Amino acid sequence: MNAETNKTEEISRTNGAPVSASEFSKGEIAADAPNTIEVEHIVKRYGEFTAVDDVSFTVREAEIFGLLGPNGAGKSTLIRMMTTLIPITGGRAMVAGHDVTSDPAAVRRVIGVIPQALTSDLDLTVEENMNIYAKLYDVPAKRRKEAIDELLETVDLTKWRDAQTKTLSGGMRRRLEIARGLVHSPKIFFLDEPTTGLDPVSRVAVWEMLTNIKSKRKLTVLITTHYMDEADRLCNRIAIVDHGKLVALDTPEALKASVPGTNVIEAHFEHPPADWEERLRGLPGVTSVQNESAGMFRVLTSNGSGTTTDLVEMAVVAQVPLKTLSVQNTTLDDVFVHYTGRQLRDELVKAYGYMMPQRPGLQP
Ligand SMILES: Nc1ncnc2c1ncn2[C@@H]1O[C@H](COP(=O)(O)OP(=O)(O)O)[C@@H](O)[C@H]1O
Ligand SMILES: [Mg+2]
Repeated sequence: MNAETNKTEEISRTNGAPVSASEFSKGEIAADAPNTIEVEHIVKRYGEFTAVDDVSFTVREAEIFGLLGPNGAGKSTLIRMMTTLIPITGGRAMVAGHDVTSDPAAVRRVIGVIPQALTSDLDLTVEENMNIYAKLYDVPAKRRKEAIDELLETVDLTKWRDAQTKTLSGGMRRRLEIARGLVHSPKIFFLDEPTTGLDPVSRVAVWEMLTNIKSKRKLTVLITTHYMDEADRLCNRIAIVDHGKLVALDTPEALKASVPGTNVIEAHFEHPPADWEERLRGLPGVTSVQNESAGMFRVLTSNGSGTTTDLVEMAVVAQVPLKTLSVQNTTLDDVFVHYTGRQLRDELVKAYGYMMPQRPGLQP
């Protein structure tokens, strides 16, 4: 039996130092912070299809706000509307006090945008990529060098400034694009899935850059992601979107607290009888049971230790071998299941056609 009691994930950096969630300081958002983004009943239709369906939310100054949802949820469409790249079908979006429909130019002046696809020019050097953006955004010549120096330092690319962009890894290109998106000192920074496709070490590096940047300037950040851990660690508040609709919005802590049951037991049984799910559901404290795959059950309970004992006892009495068992606190995965009835992991498997890596502690 393989018991895992603590889900705190530690990812080793290249220098070997572990990175834990506590290292990312989200900062306090002042109670009287003004709204920098106000989205009211926004709708986007493509013909008969509604990609974004009556979504409303506000983002406060200096907040990191996450749009979390599976592929096709409408995250990029939302970002494109807020950044004036596509017209809105219905509703309204105000960015830094400017209406995206009636005053798109004013909106563009105060925002930085990192689209989902990598867009840095491979044939240019790192510095050239920064420079053309600075010129595009009319950053005065004498401020340009200073801004580029400072940003390259922040994203840890100073020593690569003369390197051709095609020689950079995916993670480094992402960092370059983050630096480039900030060269004109925007007030609001939109990042569409900035870490999708990056390896775990590069993902952590991007989180570090963003937190680092946030600590140095007053910046509001709107980020989209389908990674639960990313939303959890980085964001002050998260809006869960699914099929174009906003299904939940709060701080990661409050979202987790809103799910009935505070612990999750994952148990893998060998050849459980047909009524096993039903019997697990009947144990005291259990609020939900999901049969994830053959023999594998995810049990939410308000009493982790009590339910674990009951579950093991039930397996012994029924002579059902227990292959693995883990107990964790509720995660954003559970929040997603609670509000959408589906697992985000399953959605991603469908979307990308590959299996997500197994979680530690679950292998037989
Ligand atoms: N230009 C378009 N024309 C038609 N459908 C679109 C267009 N852009 C996006 N969609 C559809 O809108 C939905 C939301 O897409 P998107 O915003 O890209 O989702 P996400 O970024 O969350 O993965 C998807 O079903 C997508 O196929
Ligand atoms: Mg997208």
